Amino acid sequence: MRLMKLKLFFWVCSIAFAIVIGRCEAGELKNNFYEKSCPVAEALVRNIIWKHVATDSALPAKLLRMHFHDCFVTGCDASILLDPTGKNPVEKEAPPNLSLRGFDAIEDVKTQLEKTCPGVVSCADILTLAARDAVSFQFRRPIWEVLTGRRDGSISNATEALTNIPSPFFNFTTLQREFAKRGLSVRDLVVLSGAHTLGMAHCNLFSIRVYNFTGKGDRDPLLNSSYAAYLKTKCKSLSDSKTAVGMDPQSSLSFDNHYFENLKLQQGLFLSDAALLTDNGSINIVDKMLVSRKFFIKFGQSMKRMGEIGILTGSSGEIRKKCSLV
Ligand code: HEM
Ligand SMILES: *[C@@H]1O[C@H](CO)[C@@H](O)[C@H](O)[C@H]1NC(C)=O
Ligand SMILES: *[C@@H]1O[C@H](CO)[C@@H](O)[C@H](O)[C@H]1NC(C)=O
Ligand SMILES: *[C@@H]1O[C@H](CO)[C@@H](O)[C@H](O)[C@H]1NC(C)=O
Ligand SMILES: *[C@@H]1O[C@H](CO)[C@@H](O)[C@H](O)[C@H]1NC(C)=O
Ligand SMILES: *[C@@H]1O[C@H](CO)[C@@H](O)[C@H](O)[C@H]1NC(C)=O
Ligand SMILES: *[C@@H]1O[C@H](CO)[C@@H](O)[C@H](O)[C@H]1NC(C)=O
Repeated sequence: MRLMKLKLFFWVCSIAFAIVIGRCEAGELKNNFYEKSCPVAEALVRNIIWKHVATDSALPAKLLRMHFHDCFVTGCDASILLDPTGKNPVEKEAPPNLSLRGFDAIEDVKTQLEKTCPGVVSCADILTLAARDAVSFQFRRPIWEVLTGRRDGSISNATEALTNIPSPFFNFTTLQREFAKRGLSVRDLVVLSGAHTLGMAHCNLFSIRVYNFTGKGDRDPLLNSSYAAYLKTKCKSLSDSKTAVGMDPQSSLSFDNHYFENLKLQQGLFLSDAALLTDNGSINIVDKMLVSRKFFIKFGQSMKRMGEIGILTGSSGEIRKKCSLV
């Protein structure tokens, strides 16, 4: 009898515990969310993305930036993937889109997943995993952990994209404010800016620093003079919006911590990059990121935080059938 009571007590306790834990987990992301509902999901995303990256070496930069833009505008809800339906312009049509690309790779993954497990895996999770997997291709193993369980949003608004994407002309104060609005710290700001070790930037977004900084045909004194001379050979005029240069000129296809080495040589390309050297706390973090191993660890941690901005979970939002359509 006593034993029975003890057992009953045990069961009541564990059920109560399960409910509490369940509550805690609802509304949060977890490791391998699709383990039961679609066990192949994560491997399938990786295989397809790796296949695309193998023939398109620019894709890691594109998908990493796409994920960042998605998260900064109405949260990581795949709203950046939506095509316009009426006459209202959507996020991907807003001016900061300039070079957003890689939508087809995401849609390829989605199409395959809909064949295997229809209506289960969100486009928001696909994009988050795809950004990680694309960058990881170079190492043939995932270089940071991605939690899943996001759901897709249904609103995409170009005005919101324009006002929510940090500008390359921002100073430290405005950058810090934009990141803080989304629960991200100065450490996240500095570490995530390290993503600019990958990819290209168009001349008109930085050439004022090379050609006409104070309106006297001068250079930004905080831009390395030999680097400025090199940039002049690439960007022919202030208004050149066609030409793009590698942001890490030595290895713009390789994910590494060169961004921070460049920064220390006053070779950060945008004003927003150079701004990270205008605050002592920020400089301190830049210096720490000069140790490659530390950068990789911290980048993963900050990506995880960025991937949690404004997420929809549980029964909010939806699971799209096509990533470009609600
Ligand atoms: C701190 C504020 C940031 C500003 C002001 C900023 C601004 C920009 C701009 C203006 C470009 C060039 C776009 C073009 O000319 O086509 C760019 C490229 C890029 N950004 Fe950022 N960015 C910021 C943070 C981030 C973050 C947090 C990530 C990702 C974690 C990121 C990833 C990238 C990548 C990978 C590219 C290269 C894209 C390509 O090659 O097409 N950026 N960024
Ligand atoms: C990017 O934005 C411009 C407007 O600045 C728009 O004309 C263009 O169609 C957009 N690109 C995409 C892929 O939607
Ligand atoms: C887009 O967002 C802006 C700013 O938040 C808002 O004023 C506008 O009404 C929105 N447009 C649509 C079509 O929802
Ligand atoms: C940063 O930019 C904002 C907005 O343009 C401006 O109000 C502020 O004075 C600037 N801060 C510094 C320290 O330059
Ligand atoms: C540089 O800026 C000044 C002041 O804004 C302007 O008058 C001048 O035309 C600019 N020079 C060039 C080459 O665009
Ligand atoms: C500018 O870049 C050159 C070449 O990379 C480097 O040797 C020099 O130290 C840099 N100057 C500054 C002030 O960092
Ligand atoms: C930042 O560091 C510089 C140089 O070490 C120092 O002169 C300055 O007082 C520091 N500023 C703050 C706000 O700590």
